[in-house]
Amino acid sequence: MTRILGIESTCDETAASVVADGFDVCSNAVASQAELHAKYRGVVPEIASRAHIENILPVIREAMQIAGVSFDQIDAISVAHRPGLIGSLLIGVTAAKTLAWSLGKPLIGIDHVHAHLYSVVLENNVQPPMPAVGLVCSGGHTALYEINDWLEVRLIGSTIDDAVGEAYDKVAAILGLGYPGGPIVDRLAATGNPKAIRFPRTLLDRESLDFSFSGLKTAVLYHVRGVPKRGEDVKTESNPPMNEHELADIAASFQAACIDVIAEKLMRAARRISARSIIVGGGVSANRGLRARLAEFPLPVHFPPLAYCTDNAAMSAGLAHVYFVGQQFSPLNLDAITFSQFRD
Ligand code: KG4
Ligand code: ZN
Repeated sequence: MTRILGIESTCDETAASVVADGFDVCSNAVASQAELHAKYRGVVPEIASRAHIENILPVIREAMQIAGVSFDQIDAISVAHRPGLIGSLLIGVTAAKTLAWSLGKPLIGIDHVHAHLYSVVLENNVQPPMPAVGLVCSGGHTALYEINDWLEVRLIGSTIDDAVGEAYDKVAAILGLGYPGGPIVDRLAATGNPKAIRFPRTLLDRESLDFSFSGLKTAVLYHVRGVPKRGEDVKTESNPPMNEHELADIAASFQAACIDVIAEKLMRAARRISARSIIVGGGVSANRGLRARLAEFPLPVHFPPLAYCTDNAAMSAGLAHVYFVGQQFSPLNLDAITFSQFRD
């Protein structure tokens, strides 16, 4: 059996996890900072890195304790070293390098976005048929990948402005709901009419695999606060104030627009690469409306178990097993890198 201790600190979650053989999650400790950032309705990088410093050692200890293993029983240390906020990444990367060096264990640097895709393997050990189209939809990313195997992941489309999770968070803010907005809008949408308001579906060129969500977000803003007159700013409050029923209809109509766009782009990507399956990961993959719609997709669609949709370290410890088997280790001078991958 191979056990890997994974560390995650790319954004606002400090997490550590022990995963055996690439799928068996022995522990999954996550210290969320959502409360610290809630009043700013978004992640404040300086606050995030400070909280990571405070949380990293307790979270690693917790992951080891829950897994019931000692450091000698760990075969390698993995860390999501890109992409993310530089101050946040540095904490996890430094902790992982220090552990690897002091314990004499191999270090494996993982791309956080690739790890989101791998999260579908966790717990059930189901290997999706390849080539697969991968969609990572989260607060920081909305991107499509061609996956030929877990180590051959090619970017084929990405957002040209907002990520879809970011659009959910901003729409929640416009509607006066809490943060993070995705789960709240998702719940509210279930009670509304998705056809109540026809929000725009931005598909870009006929063949494009890129996304754009900023027009949709602005359409929701104008629907709620009115289109500003030339030379005026948009109102800061809805006029007249909305009741529960109206809020639910806006949430459902916004969600329907997001899902229509995602479904269309997945279809285009699947045709482009003759995909045998679809893999969806990232925070928005928890969305109930998206899951229901993609259940009707003509190819098998793989979602992560709910616990591994949002940021966690199990996904990187799982993917690291593939690198471990191929003896692909990282040097101890592994860097924290803010970006993921450029399109070829
Ligand atoms: O993967 P994640 O934890 O962090 C990033 O790597 O960005 O994703 C967080 C994002 C947030 O924008 C949150 O609002 C969204 O995922 N999210 C959802 C749902 N649960 C989380 N969006 C839509 N529906 C959900 N159920
Ligand atoms: Zn993420």
